Amino acid sequence: MSLRLCCILLSLGCPRGCAALSPSCPAGCCCPHPDALVFCESLGLTSLPRFIPRNTSVLSVARNLLCNMDHLLQNFSSLQVLNLSHNHLDRFPRGLPPSLESLQLQENRITYITTRALKQLRKLVQLDLEDNRIRAMQPRALLTLSRLERLSLKGNFLSSLPLFLPPSLTHLDVLKINRNCLQSVPEAAFDGLSRLHFVDLANNLWTCECDIMYLYRWLLDGRLGLAGDLVCAAPLHLAHRLLLTLSVMAICPRVLKQNEEAPPLNSTLPTSLRNSPAVETKFSVRLSIHVFYYIPIFS
Ligand SMILES: *[C@@H]1O[C@H](CO)[C@@H](O)[C@H](O)[C@H]1NC(C)=O
Ligand SMILES: *[C@@H]1O[C@H](CO)[C@@H](O)[C@H](O)[C@H]1NC(C)=O
Ligand SMILES: *[C@@H]1O[C@H](CO)[C@@H](O)[C@H](O)[C@H]1NC(C)=O
Ligand SMILES: *[C@@H]1O[C@H](CO)[C@@H](O)[C@H](O)[C@H]1NC(C)=O
Repeated sequence: MSLRLCCILLSLGCPRGCAALSPSCPAGCCCPHPDALVFCESLGLTSLPRFIPRNTSVLSVARNLLCNMDHLLQNFSSLQVLNLSHNHLDRFPRGLPPSLESLQLQENRITYITTRALKQLRKLVQLDLEDNRIRAMQPRALLTLSRLERLSLKGNFLSSLPLFLPPSLTHLDVLKINRNCLQSVPEAAFDGLSRLHFVDLANNLWTCECDIMYLYRWLLDGRLGLAGDLVCAAPLHLAHRLLLTLSVMAICPRVLKQNEEAPPLNSTLPTSLRNSPAVETKFSVRLSIHVFYYIPIFS
């Protein structure tokens, strides 16, 4: 079965009364495609059901009470899609099968991401970590995910972007790190991401001082459509102002004193953003596209 078909079926959820379709389906679960698709959602599970067919390619145990999945699936060498969302996992599961291409871990309680946890997931194309409690990622943790295209870290507590984004991040199409505690973006953080066509950085704690100049310029350099709505949280006198309506002089006068050229604000900003007071009070101009439904584009 192609991953595309698996994903379409998975996203449709569990059809009613499908449990009878396969005699090898674990008790209480439903298996719309025998031995390939197994759904065990919302069953109050505290442990993985026994007798899940070893050659399952899509497994969802979403919306249960699972706390620990370490090494339980490591022998499932056909597993491509694994939905562990809405559980009680307090750390990234260890010993996941290297065959995984799509992993959903949203709405768990994960607090940090280590390099070791991600090391073997070289085939991963999609990783969803939305709405966890992630405060830190080991700097090189993402480096081994050489096929990753979609990463969501929305709704966590990150105060900085992972320092080393892998060269493969040219394959990263989607980066969502909004609703975190980011204050700035490290110099050159996005430079390798030539395929990046969506970034959502809204609702962070942006400090509109010199450290933000890299991001400011990166956005003004033709990427306004990616994230036009970043609001400053600090310094106090710039709080609640939209970053892109501020002048270089307001953010980092030192840069001008060093004789660097300021971006030509009026010629770069779209007309709607030029009238800064109106925009700042209403927050009505949202340039980023907030559509992030799972679209299975890989097969
Ligand atoms: C994973 O399960 C959650 C909860 O049922 C669901 O909302 C989500 O769409 C699923 N993800 C995929 C990729 O099917
Ligand atoms: C999974 O393995 C069983 C035997 O263990 C086999 O009958 C079945 O056809 C296999 N299913 C797939 C999708 O490969
Ligand atoms: C996975 O396979 C190995 C080697 O065949 C075995 O030792 C181990 O117990 C298996 N793990 C599980 C969780 O079944
Ligand atoms: C931008 O344009 C406005 C009027 O359109 C003008 O008042 C303002 O001085 C200009 N700012 C810069 C930096 O040129």
